[in-house]
Amino acid sequence: MDSKINILKDKIAKAHEGGGEGRIKKQHQKKKLTARERIEYLMDEGSFEEIGALVTHRTTDFGMQDQIYYGDGVVTGYGTVNGRLIYIFAQDFTVFGGALSETHAEKICKIMDHAMKVGAPLIGLNDSGGARIQEGVRSLGGYADIFYRNVMASGVIPQISAIMGPCAGGAVYSPAMTDFTIMVEDTSYMFVTGPNVVKTVTNEEVTSEELGGASTHSTKSGVTHITAANDIECLEDVKKLLSYLPQNNKEKTKSLPFELKEEIRPSLNSIVPDSANKPYDMHEVISGIIDEDSFYEIHKDYADNIIVGFARLAGRSIGIVANQPMSLAGVLDVNSSKKAARFTRFCDCFNIPLLVLVDVPGFLPGTDQEWNGIIVHGAKLLYALSEATVPRVTVITRKAYGGAYDVMNSKHIGADMNFAWPSAEIAVMGAKGASEIIFRKEISEADDPELKLSEKEKEYADKFANPYRAAERGFIDEVILPENTRRKLIKAYAMLDNKQAELPFKKHGNIPL
Ligand code: COA
Repeated sequence: MDSKINILKDKIAKAHEGGGEGRIKKQHQKKKLTARERIEYLMDEGSFEEIGALVTHRTTDFGMQDQIYYGDGVVTGYGTVNGRLIYIFAQDFTVFGGALSETHAEKICKIMDHAMKVGAPLIGLNDSGGARIQEGVRSLGGYADIFYRNVMASGVIPQISAIMGPCAGGAVYSPAMTDFTIMVEDTSYMFVTGPNVVKTVTNEEVTSEELGGASTHSTKSGVTHITAANDIECLEDVKKLLSYLPQNNKEKTKSLPFELKEEIRPSLNSIVPDSANKPYDMHEVISGIIDEDSFYEIHKDYADNIIVGFARLAGRSIGIVANQPMSLAGVLDVNSSKKAARFTRFCDCFNIPLLVLVDVPGFLPGTDQEWNGIIVHGAKLLYALSEATVPRVTVITRKAYGGAYDVMNSKHIGADMNFAWPSAEIAVMGAKGASEIIFRKEISEADDPELKLSEKEKEYADKFANPYRAAERGFIDEVILPENTRRKLIKAYAMLDNKQAELPFKKHGNIPL
């Protein structure tokens, strides 16, 4: 028996060696942890259980039968993060550069199937040279098996992808279909075709970092939601993100213990400036409302005219979508609409109540926006909010103009509670623009058109640059003092806790993509 036990121990030790000491050293030289070190850091101590440690590839082409590594370039299994079950795969760059073979894909699919059966989040740590070149189409089939499962799992269990090394070619489409992508700065990149192919096809000279590094994808493309300075920060981000999410689409998020106190926040009274054209930072409003230091911003560096992120209110997870007057006056444009729509849909999939903070002067005008399809992209946000059945609360802090008023979680599209601050201006457009249109004749015929315009502007502003017309109609449920916002929201979400809402039967809607 002893010899049999030793055989097993020997095999396990070999599996733990990955691609060997030399390659592990190289991995560390690149400032990257190994797959096993990453798992160890992420999971609660001693909780990780590996599945498939002794799997090997089946390829005999190109002398591959002589290059066998237990695990075949990916470590898979389950364990807990802060006491909650998760499934994980971590690609091992020390074995064939983490390249994906048929068996490597089978291992990933196996834990994806488990995660779906049990209803637990799936975490993918990607670090791979792509399809295992020696395996050809079998490797491509493996990718498609994973993609298919990503789609089936979408909206059922949370899926988080950490990109901690190369992720190129077809490999990018698995992270792209998961809920969140986190990239490590300087050591990770994602692209469909690398710099060499780009040079051949388009004659562009570009580095990997410029083409698909973390900063490119966090600022230009929006492909990544979060960037991290190194592996450790990236894994901390995974943990933090998980803390706001439920296990699956049938669960609500767990509330943290919270002691309700006097919830008046006087600092909120002085954030909105007197002048309608002066910017202010919506982050101040957010932190004035939520539990201390609980905001976790998503897509921070992309389309910063809208803010999205998770927070806690009285210990309970909420998703926040907020116009940011500091950037482009908080207008809705193509990118901000897409960003907010995707976040809204995530929250709705996973029973996370939504809070929409509104200060929006409208949609960004111009050929650039029109030609890039602001009509369709703006419609995404309108659609996503309209179909969201989670508790939905709106606070209008200042401007809510035009069609953007409708889009930003208005009562008309199903919001549950709509509050406005006394500084709210709910109107078709700003007073100046409105007066120039409806009083054009009167102004042009006046002895002093400038004076007439300012008189008319005042008249329009007095009538419409306030929340009371909307409140009279019931489009606003209550005009509240800013200092009471937190208290009102805590009560509103508690009241909405058992909200039941169903969409009409359909196979699925046809969101304007
Ligand atoms: N299939 C099989 N083996 C692969 C591989 C792949 N797709 N990508 C990398 N490897 C192997 C390398 O042969 C090397 O093996 P070795 O340690 O036995 O020498 C090992 O993984 C590490 O690769 P290396 O090129 O030394 O690492 P690097 O950090 O310098 O470069 C890449 C990383 C990903 C840029 C580079 O390996 C690469 O370009 N790979 C091919 C990418 C590709 O075209 N994939 C297929 C299309 S999706």
